[in-house]
Amino acid sequence: MLTLPPFIAHRGASADAPENSLEAFRKAAELGASWVEFDVMLTADGVPVVHHDDNLRRIAGVDRDMAETDFAELQEVNATLATAIPSLEETLAVLGKAGLLANVEIKPTPGRATETARRTIDTLRGHWGHDTPPLLSSFDWQALAVAADVMPEWPRGVLIDFRDTPDADWRRAADRLGAFSLHLDQRSATPALVDEAKALGLRVLTYTVNDPDRARALWNMEVDSVFTDHVTAIGEAAKSSE
Ligand code: G3P
Ligand code: MG
Repeated sequence: MLTLPPFIAHRGASADAPENSLEAFRKAAELGASWVEFDVMLTADGVPVVHHDDNLRRIAGVDRDMAETDFAELQEVNATLATAIPSLEETLAVLGKAGLLANVEIKPTPGRATETARRTIDTLRGHWGHDTPPLLSSFDWQALAVAADVMPEWPRGVLIDFRDTPDADWRRAADRLGAFSLHLDQRSATPALVDEAKALGLRVLTYTVNDPDRARALWNMEVDSVFTDHVTAIGEAAKSSE
């Protein structure tokens, strides 16, 4: 099905450009990444945009939630910034031009998982410029259930943070969702866990890996792909590990 690259630029080349920005995606391609990961959430009026936090404070310096900001209001905020928070549609245009594939992480507003997944997939269907499908992932497994329902042929990755939800049943979720992959915090990746996931037929991806030695250790465990902010360093490590 999908061939994963050894590393994926996390939120674009986020050590070299503002995270989740068009510049970070262009930079990722320029530095040799073939895939990027980014986060998608909805504005108050339901437009999928590429942003990580619920609140705009850290990225835009404005203390308000994305879930309470209309897309037009977001454009007013963007006009004050050196680097804009892009829509998903704008992002996909850049990915298409740069030839970048993607892991699209769905980050639903609480209570709007179904809508976030549906609108994200609708936009992807209209503007995804590749034959290879996007890899969808989410910590919110309800969003992945919607993805399985409306776009069953696109691969799904079960995201889990064992530090927040140590008892969550990822095996059952992966089975029920027909998952392609398991995405976990690299600090939780042990050889036993990776082996178990792989024996279940899952690819394994780990975030966020900025240390080349740790990346090599994970590849040696047969982790398929690592998410990194540092595309150059991890790209060089990947080349020397080939
Ligand atoms: O998708 C992998 C990783 O991005 C998950 O964590 O918080 O960086 O979105 P976060
Ligand atoms: Mg993410």
